[in-house]
Amino acid sequence: MKNSYIAVFDSGVGGLHILETLVKDFASENFIYLADEEFFPYGVKTKEELENRMTLITKKLDSMNVKVIIIACNTASANSHHCHKFINTKIIEIISATANYAKLVTNNNKVGVWATDATIKSNKYQEALSDIEMCYPVKASDLVVLIEKNLINDTKSLVNTHLNEIKDADTLILGCTHFPLVSDVIREFNKELQLVCSNEPVSIALKDYLDKHNLNNTTNDNQIIDLYTSKIDGELKEKAKRFNINANKVEYLEIK
Ligand code: DGL
Repeated sequence: MKNSYIAVFDSGVGGLHILETLVKDFASENFIYLADEEFFPYGVKTKEELENRMTLITKKLDSMNVKVIIIACNTASANSHHCHKFINTKIIEIISATANYAKLVTNNNKVGVWATDATIKSNKYQEALSDIEMCYPVKASDLVVLIEKNLINDTKSLVNTHLNEIKDADTLILGCTHFPLVSDVIREFNKELQLVCSNEPVSIALKDYLDKHNLNNTTNDNQIIDLYTSKIDGELKEKAKRFNINANKVEYLEIK
């Protein structure tokens, strides 16, 4: 079990950004990354479509004998509450950890949340932040496709519009794992805002789980990273080059 892989998944490049952090923070662990490119974008799908997809994906990763499944996606996290019923593998979702982190850093108790339309509709961030003075939820699925295609310069006007929607918040949760990739654009408009993304909270949650269950791989000095895409003609290989991920292989994985 200690030597088993850690599985990470998202619809596309957002999860690769989290994977980049985890690969560095857990240098003795091996990783499987699934980009669900076939079903991208998640954020405009219905609750039912997302829940069904999460069942299929978590079952598939469970069948690959991984020791933990990290949902490196807020939209998927918001729609995966039922998945633990079907599998034995531990699932780490990212919304609670990210919301708690934001509560620690806000000074005026006012937090904006940019997330996909589906995540905002799920109300999960609003519930997790219900004890602060003000939460400004913003549906921002319009940014996702541009970021996936690496058209970062084209996001400027949308970024500016969405910044105006969080009014007097001193902290912004980048509640979609694609959004840290426009942090520099956000900084062009606002230098003071505290930006909270899921990378660090997820890394802390994973460390906590591995330590508590004595599941750290202590004998590995040759880290392996296997990338999978659910789309036959997917572009994961190209996308992975945007991050410092040295993949062992990139393969198609059928999700059904
Ligand atoms: N990266 C995902 C998230 O954190 C979703 C992007 C999408 O496929 O819409 O919500």
